[in-house]
Amino acid sequence: MADQRQISKAVIARLPRYYRYLGELMEEGIERISSNELSARMKVTASQIRQDLNNFGGFGQQGYGYNVKYLYTEIARILGIDRQHNLIIIGAGNLGQAIANYTNFEKRGFMIKGMFDINPRLIGLVVRGVEIRGIDDLEQFIVENEVQIAALTIPKSKAPEIADRLVKAGIKAIWNFAHTDLNVPDDVVVENVHLSESLMRLSYRVCSMQDERERKAKEKLAKENAKMHGQEA
Ligand code: NAI
Repeated sequence: MADQRQISKAVIARLPRYYRYLGELMEEGIERISSNELSARMKVTASQIRQDLNNFGGFGQQGYGYNVKYLYTEIARILGIDRQHNLIIIGAGNLGQAIANYTNFEKRGFMIKGMFDINPRLIGLVVRGVEIRGIDDLEQFIVENEVQIAALTIPKSKAPEIADRLVKAGIKAIWNFAHTDLNVPDDVVVENVHLSESLMRLSYRVCSMQDERERKAKEKLAKENAKMHGQEA
């Protein structure tokens, strides 16, 4: 069985993607797959796949391939998504409600137990079975509902103060959407999610490709011009 401590952060970061592909294979009724077949599907080199999945007890056997269900279950165990995590959302605006409305998190064991806001017009509303509560109830709710994870979908100016309250109330994991870095003790983990950073990376890639196309077009034109002038001379 794989030991979580021995697996590098880079491999852990790739596990959710393996998990997704393995889930699709299970849905298709595929019981085993070779690294080459998985490589073709995932567009990752077969050697990378072998290196990554070797962390899971060498279940890729020569001539047999990987046991899909075993790997799927093992990756779920490593990621801790074979257990239930109780989650709350702080900030029941556009983003907070969008997260609450997404049903797939529950399938992965993330149970949205409560939502919190300061806006009196939102307090008392129910989003997909989850009531929006006033922020004053926060600490008591966390303790009573054994909440481990808090999603922060509030303005960045409010995030540090709320993060402090969450930590004092015993929260161990913050899923931070507010555009600010949080200062938390070492035993609290923060996962920052910034869609705009992802978009900026996309922008870089699309612009680089565009620049490259323009450079090639100019080069081609210059060559054609040189050829034409050469013929005229
Ligand atoms: P929104 O204005 O619709 O919702 C924010 C909610 O937070 C409001 O309902 C407001 O009453 C509530 N709120 C404010 N202070 C609070 C406090 N102290 N305690 C509890 N609730 C409080 O805004 P939206 O669009 O939902 O965005 C929320 C935050 O997420 C913003 O900071 C935004 O910049 C950020 N954001 C981040 C993204 C990302 O990829 N990381 C993507 C979209 C938004």
